[in-house]
Amino acid sequence: MHEAAKAVSIPMDREILHVIPQSYTVDAQRGIKDPLHMMGVRLEADVHIVTCSITTTQNLVKCVDRAGYRPEKRVLNSLAAARAVLSDDERDLGCLLLDIGGGTTDLVVFGEGQPWYTASVPAGGMQVTNDISIMLSLLMDGAERLKREAGSCWLESVDSSELIVVPGVGGREPTEIPRKKLCAIVQPRMEEIYSMAKERLEKSGLMKEIKSGIVLTGGGALMSGARELAQSVFDLPARVGNPPAIHGLENQYRNPAFASALGLVLLAGDEALASGPIRRPLAARKEKSHAPNLGRLVDWLKDKFV
Ligand SMILES: Nc1ncnc2c1ncn2[C@@H]1O[C@H](COP(=O)(O)OP(=O)(O)O)[C@@H](O)[C@H]1O
Ligand SMILES: [Mg+2]
Repeated sequence: MHEAAKAVSIPMDREILHVIPQSYTVDAQRGIKDPLHMMGVRLEADVHIVTCSITTTQNLVKCVDRAGYRPEKRVLNSLAAARAVLSDDERDLGCLLLDIGGGTTDLVVFGEGQPWYTASVPAGGMQVTNDISIMLSLLMDGAERLKREAGSCWLESVDSSELIVVPGVGGREPTEIPRKKLCAIVQPRMEEIYSMAKERLEKSGLMKEIKSGIVLTGGGALMSGARELAQSVFDLPARVGNPPAIHGLENQYRNPAFASALGLVLLAGDEALASGPIRRPLAARKEKSHAPNLGRLVDWLKDKFV
């Protein structure tokens, strides 16, 4: 059935990454979640199809190959993040996952337990850093450091009297500026990113389905004020989604920046469980030269995929 659903016309340079069933119709009975063991003559399925660029995927797979690993599966970044940070209740009630990464911000709308809509807007934390670098004449790494240490996208919470030190570039003396000045650079860009995501959401017609609110994740969700600004732009409750505690995993990885990497590990775990006890554990499937260590695995996944 799902193979048949793949018979849609897509551009030559794209391939199908996921076919996600939403609901089934058995004869005249619509809205069936699981048609297994039902009797009927005609079975129809509503599916959400995710496609990806063939060449981009090939390059990713090549990178993984060259690192000495064999990719088993490819997963849409934001779906992996969703596995790590969303609760079952949020998935069932309807929520928006916003994964704020470096160059993109990815959206997934969940409803009735399933991903209903996925999209991506071409802006993320890197654009914020770039703005700081231009406006304060800093190199990108200095701007990134300043953003993480003193940035906020919720101006209301920033004290006007607070001062921060901006490092001097090319032997120039460091200068002191009001923190508010930095935040006045950060806020409009974050607001723009949220507005672009909101526009996509409105176009999808699913705004009214977001009953449990927004979950922010990805490194960009660590920006101070990210939650407050999201609530204000979307007019919906928001929370920052941290990955759950996983046995054997150090606390430093319970951080939204690791959501996708941990989600991949959890999805692999789900599959291993579903396919029974004879399947070898994930660590044992790796090359011998890479010692089984969950922390390192997460770092590697994050480097290569996220
Ligand atoms: N503490 C922080 N405060 C603000 N932004 C942060 C923080 N930590 C990471 N980021 C931003 O998160 C972005 C990277 O997010 P990440 O999810 O790791 O990216 P990707 O999934 O695109 O690889 C970067 O733009 C980085 O500046
Ligand atoms: Mg990410």
